[in-house]
Amino acid sequence: MKKVFITRKIPETGINLLKEKGYEVDISPEDRPLTKGELINALKAKQYDAVLTLLTDTIDAEVMDSAPTVKIYANYAIGFNNISLDEAKKRNIYVTNTPGGGADRVAEHTWALILALSCRIVEGDSYMRNGKYKGWDPMLLHGTKLAGKTLGIIGTGKIGADVAHRGKHGFDMNIAYYDVVRNESLEKDFQAVFYPTVDEVLKIADVVSLHVPLLDSTRHLINSDRLKMMKSSTYLINTSRGPVVDEKALVSALQNGVIKGAGLDVYEFEPDLAKGLAELPNVVLTPHIASGTEEARHDMAIISASNIIDALEGVTPRNQVSY
Ligand code: GLV
Repeated sequence: MKKVFITRKIPETGINLLKEKGYEVDISPEDRPLTKGELINALKAKQYDAVLTLLTDTIDAEVMDSAPTVKIYANYAIGFNNISLDEAKKRNIYVTNTPGGGADRVAEHTWALILALSCRIVEGDSYMRNGKYKGWDPMLLHGTKLAGKTLGIIGTGKIGADVAHRGKHGFDMNIAYYDVVRNESLEKDFQAVFYPTVDEVLKIADVVSLHVPLLDSTRHLINSDRLKMMKSSTYLINTSRGPVVDEKALVSALQNGVIKGAGLDVYEFEPDLAKGLAELPNVVLTPHIASGTEEARHDMAIISASNIIDALEGVTPRNQVSY
């Protein structure tokens, strides 16, 4: 009987799919990410054929060596920076992700952060709850109009394109973008303008939204120098991966008015925040929930389980990833 280990509870739909195939499925009983030692011990307990991992699991050479029978690490996430692709390749192990699961929802969450900042929703809410509202005031909590302004998108895969779609057709924004390859459909469908460098987008955008995978080349893509290139009226949004932004540099930029505000769903040292970030009034922070809807979590469970079934039934998994 084929054996699958799931590193933390996921929606039943995915688990049932694996059980219906006749696989033996073990799920970590902990309601938290396993430590590396715990994960290795769990994997050594049986000869597992597949592991369903979360983005909080680091799957490196040591983990792979502890489970030599594993044929696939099926990540329950769109991102896959937590798994060493080079090490997997050396061992002929598949790595998969869940690209269709929640990309549109991440775009919606990106927009929730943009609007929360531009309409000052969080500050307004706390103003009301703290009994500060004494009546209409023409000078109170001025926000920022988005129509006619420029939305700069760095990375135009499915999520970046969905953000552009909403920006163009929902909020009448002009779209500027950078990607390693030109995105013709973005240019045709949303009149998006391509810039050959990140810097050029940063210099002209009123809102910058990051949608790149975390790679060596994108770590600290937004650093102190690049923050200084942005206009002081610009909002930075990050729903990709925390280390794409140098968070310490971001805090300093926000404290000193280098940029106007930031909307973040991901953090450089999750779950910790850079010193001073949570005290800033010009940030909106959410706990890595951009794809966190019932529908998306269900889809991700089905997709990751299906990838495992593909691999264990001798088919190339539908969402195999590679650089
Ligand atoms: C969430 O961050 C994901 O990669 O799905």
